[in-house]
Amino acid sequence: MPLEEGRVPVEDRGYQFGDGVYEVIHVYGGKPFRMRQHLARLERSLAGIEIALPEPLPKIEEVCRRLIGTLREASVYLQVTRGVAPRSHAFPRGTRPVFLAYARETPPPPAGKSLSLLSVLDDRWGRCHIKTICLLPNVLARQKAVLAGCDEALFVREDGTVTEGSSSNAFMVRGGAVVTHPANNRILNGVTREAVVQLARQEGIAVLEQAFSLQEALEGDEFFMTGTTTEVGPVAAIDGKKIGMAAPGPVSQRLKAAFDALVRQECG
Ligand code: PDD
Repeated sequence: MPLEEGRVPVEDRGYQFGDGVYEVIHVYGGKPFRMRQHLARLERSLAGIEIALPEPLPKIEEVCRRLIGTLREASVYLQVTRGVAPRSHAFPRGTRPVFLAYARETPPPPAGKSLSLLSVLDDRWGRCHIKTICLLPNVLARQKAVLAGCDEALFVREDGTVTEGSSSNAFMVRGGAVVTHPANNRILNGVTREAVVQLARQEGIAVLEQAFSLQEALEGDEFFMTGTTTEVGPVAAIDGKKIGMAAPGPVSQRLKAAFDALVRQECG
């Protein structure tokens, strides 16, 4: 059905409790990028909040392909909520999950743009590895960043550890090596993050999956963000302070080019 005709029942638990999970898959030239990895993560997110898979994965894959249809540059949004039931916090019995999916045209991120970040307190819950639709902390963080004239928020824990962005993963470059927060419960392990870690290793760039502080990031050589909508986004400044040469550095540029080549290879 046309997107504007889709309706959410008032008692959908996603609507009332944020009781659901989602995925965003980018489509390049009509082909979804790393669909299998996104669907595998959807399955893990669902398991993480004890919702059954609404359809077998091959069926969901087929739904995505049908939705993409003739679209070229687009994204697919998938969402599964616990279902529709009278409002009560505990899981309702016998309720079927509600699965929705749509595709819409989306332009690629502007080429050659460097990002500016604003650090914000990471006050999210302890299960950030689950791609939940409960995005209020992310929404508030991004809004704060936008009001400060920045492109993205950078979550920093009370102890100074940098975790990730409001909708992207964070990497610093130090002495030619790439450092990124370990894929644990404090971050969403991005499909793009995993691709970039793999590409860096193939390129002979050392990758350290270990925590680093905001202070270390500010003193680093380069910084970049990754994500489905960000791709590889070099960062020029954090909290108004220039990082390195404040222009895309050599490692960020190399990984951006490697990522673009990977997309061409996998999506044509
Ligand atoms: N967000 N971290 C967070 C908190 C995210 O929301 C996202 C993606 C990422 C990057 O993951 P991936 O590389 O798989 O896209 C990291 C999507 C794009 C969104 O909410 O729109």
